[in-house]
Amino acid sequence: MTQVSGTETAPTRILAIESSCDETAAAVLENGRALLSNVVATQIDLHAKYGGVFPEVASRQHIKTVYAIIDQALQQAHLSLSDLDAVVVTRGPGLAGSLVVGMNAAKGLVLGRNLPLVGVNHLEGHIYSAWVYRAGEPVPPEPQFPLMALLVSGGHTELNLMTDHITYKRLGSTQDDAAGEAFDKVARLLGLPYPGGPSIQKAAAEGDPNAFTFPRARMEGTWNFSFSGLKTAVLRVVRKLEEHHEPIPVADLAASFQAAVVDVLVSKTLQAARTFKASEILVAGGVSANRALREAFQAQTEFKVHIPPLYLCTDNAAMIGSAGYFRYTRGQRDPLDLDVLPTWPLS
Ligand code: KG4
Ligand code: ZN
Repeated sequence: MTQVSGTETAPTRILAIESSCDETAAAVLENGRALLSNVVATQIDLHAKYGGVFPEVASRQHIKTVYAIIDQALQQAHLSLSDLDAVVVTRGPGLAGSLVVGMNAAKGLVLGRNLPLVGVNHLEGHIYSAWVYRAGEPVPPEPQFPLMALLVSGGHTELNLMTDHITYKRLGSTQDDAAGEAFDKVARLLGLPYPGGPSIQKAAAEGDPNAFTFPRARMEGTWNFSFSGLKTAVLRVVRKLEEHHEPIPVADLAASFQAAVVDVLVSKTLQAARTFKASEILVAGGVSANRALREAFQAQTEFKVHIPPLYLCTDNAAMIGSAGYFRYTRGQRDPLDLDVLPTWPLS
């Protein structure tokens, strides 16, 4: 934060780098919310032929693109490294080989420019996507605490009660598959392309969500989730139909599966919000891009729900920069030997 003449304070500008999985991303933010640039290079096409992310291929691709992506983010923001106040980087969770690439790029920049380094948990980044907006566009309402945050990504499904900035109480998490993982696995068993979430959503649009009654694991008495039973239930139906040489009603199966996931996620989050007297709800992570999930949350009127715009739901560096800003302005500075291991649970 640079002091300028009078009482005015110059904006805090952060460069953020994200490389935890199969997206190489960089973004520049002002004061933690206003996005000056947001560059995401996805590797989806590279991994599609493997039906999922191939870790070695992912890290090699990150190495190839990371500096160009950072350059592009600075250029689009019309800034240079000397305009920055800090560099924020994802420190995990994610693929170690991928994380190391972003981490080393960030360390090189802070070392060369004598800038502070701030490491951010990727999941915390997803939560902060709800604070981000494109500079020049209308400022969305800021989420209010206490906030019930449902985090639904490819590897994690959890409920966190947020009582203040960067202050979390993890109430529960999945005991087996994450919601995104269930989408990906069910897509594969239905013969739908990777990534599974968008494929299921597309197929489901043509199907009947009531065609099959799939189990909803409520995990009563806990704030945990479980999706592997649901995945197995879909598998059983598919196997049975195959045994009888009957056609697989992909659209109906996708729609019924999606309805079961959405039902559990929404009902459990609302119940948690009531129990912990949250004032608002926040939904984030790749699965928050799901149309049925968004519509179900938007259809209820009990709580105001913050769901990021689609471009911020899946992995990006803007969200990492936002979380990093709130850490930076609260004094966090990380050493140059920062490892690619996340603080866990969020803290
Ligand atoms: O947050 P994310 O981009 O990466 C991780 O941090 O894991 O989440 C990726 C997950 C994948 O499982 C993907 O299938 C799922 O988000 N996803 C969706 C949709 N778009 C992405 N799931 C359901 N519906 C979607 N439209
Ligand atoms: Zn993610």
